[in-house]
Amino acid sequence: MNGHPERVLIVDDEEHVCALFQRILQKEGYEVECAPTGEDGLARLAGQPFDLVMTDLKLPGIDGMELLRRGRDLCPETSFVMLTAFGTVQTAVEAMKQGAYDYLVKPVDKDEIIMVVAKALEVQRLTREVARLRSQLDLSLDFNEIVGHSKSMKAVFRLMKMVADSNATILIQGESGTGKELIARAIHGASRRKERRFVAVNCASVPESLLESELFGYVRGAFTGAAADKKGLFEEAHEGTLLLDEIGDTSTAFQSALLRVLQESEIRPVGSNKTVKVDVRVIVATNKDLKREVERKTFREDLFYRLSVVPIALPPLRSRRDDIPLLAAHFIEKYSRAYSVEPKRLAPVSLRLLLDHSWPGNVRELENVIERAVLINPGAEIAPDSLFPSALTMLDENRSFTSLNDTMRGARELMEREKIAEALQRTSGNRSHAARLLGISRSALYNKIKSLRLAN
Ligand SMILES: Nc1ncnc2c1ncn2[C@@H]1O[C@H](COP(=O)(O)OP(=O)(O)OP(=O)(O)O)[C@@H](O)[C@H]1O
Ligand SMILES: [Mg+2]
Repeated sequence: MNGHPERVLIVDDEEHVCALFQRILQKEGYEVECAPTGEDGLARLAGQPFDLVMTDLKLPGIDGMELLRRGRDLCPETSFVMLTAFGTVQTAVEAMKQGAYDYLVKPVDKDEIIMVVAKALEVQRLTREVARLRSQLDLSLDFNEIVGHSKSMKAVFRLMKMVADSNATILIQGESGTGKELIARAIHGASRRKERRFVAVNCASVPESLLESELFGYVRGAFTGAAADKKGLFEEAHEGTLLLDEIGDTSTAFQSALLRVLQESEIRPVGSNKTVKVDVRVIVATNKDLKREVERKTFREDLFYRLSVVPIALPPLRSRRDDIPLLAAHFIEKYSRAYSVEPKRLAPVSLRLLLDHSWPGNVRELENVIERAVLINPGAEIAPDSLFPSALTMLDENRSFTSLNDTMRGARELMEREKIAEALQRTSGNRSHAARLLGISRSALYNKIKSLRLAN
């Protein structure tokens, strides 16, 4: 991937087998290590990752199956090829069910070894590539995936369009679940950087002591366990966009380091005395009120000002309720497609419930509620108790049923009045023609006019 030779680990208790495999694969340009036991193999895997492990099934102590299971737990990306004697092919097949890529029956010939290793590594590369492409594909779709027509969201969209193509650092603030990451991805997708990577880091989930090495990388020997140079996420995001999520939860020491990077556009890997130029668009996000954190001295004021060149405030869902119906429809469509069910309608009373809810978890909560409802609702219309298990009591308590019925009746009457008036106007008052236009009988029209007390 990164130009380093791919690393292969051979685990076999027969020394000559190990030596033979090592010689063959080293000639092919791989970096090869050997382990005589499963225990030793595991220890090596834990120490430094391998791209591929070739292991004998029959080993003293931890056997090949066990090594496969524990090895995959340890490094899920590593491919495993099992070596087996003629009599134990059945076990090898079992190993493939457990996630091994392939098996070879001993004695193995040279070409077979070379081919199986090359193929396993190729498949591994493709898998990574597909995952990367898919995430980029998702990205390009994301811009249309942002739903919102409230005034406040329209203002957000305008701001996004204005800044997408600049390199300005952007600060996105909003409660949890308001769509901060979605907006960050969309900005990346609308920028000139869209062909390059979008890398998101949740600063709160990386231990404080590791955050700098994670972001800036480190050099070999920088600390115990730093066995080789490692690139940081800033370098990974070169020419792309880096989202630093939960920036409000970082230490002031880290904040100083970040400020330097933003000012100088260069990073210094941990333990290195050289700096590296990086071209990265930084977006930061937080669900905290950074200004208050500045007052409380938990957030550096200089960094705050540097970050808030372009602040985007995402309003909580409860303060933009007019987005709720659109979002609900969007998620119904999304999950009906995902679960291959006929798209369902929201029962009007269900929509009412959604509009009344306070949504402490914002859009994410709404999305979860709809996903669940799409799955569990039996009929074509999503009933209130599919949304909230206690919906009926909720409705009863605030008497929404009655008031909703009143509203519905009122709305219906209003629409009927308008339609009838329009039909009568178009037909210059000819009731027979008007009835035909409305698709009802002449007598039905008479009754309507009477019950609606429509003067003509
Ligand atoms: N306007 C929107 N249109 C469509 N989907 C949205 C919208 N806003 C949020 N979502 C969806 O809601 C979920 C939560 O959004 P996201 O992860 O971006 O929120 P967040 O603000 O980053 O939350 P947190 O602070 O918890 O990390 C995602 O699945 C996202 O796709
Ligand atoms: Mg987020």
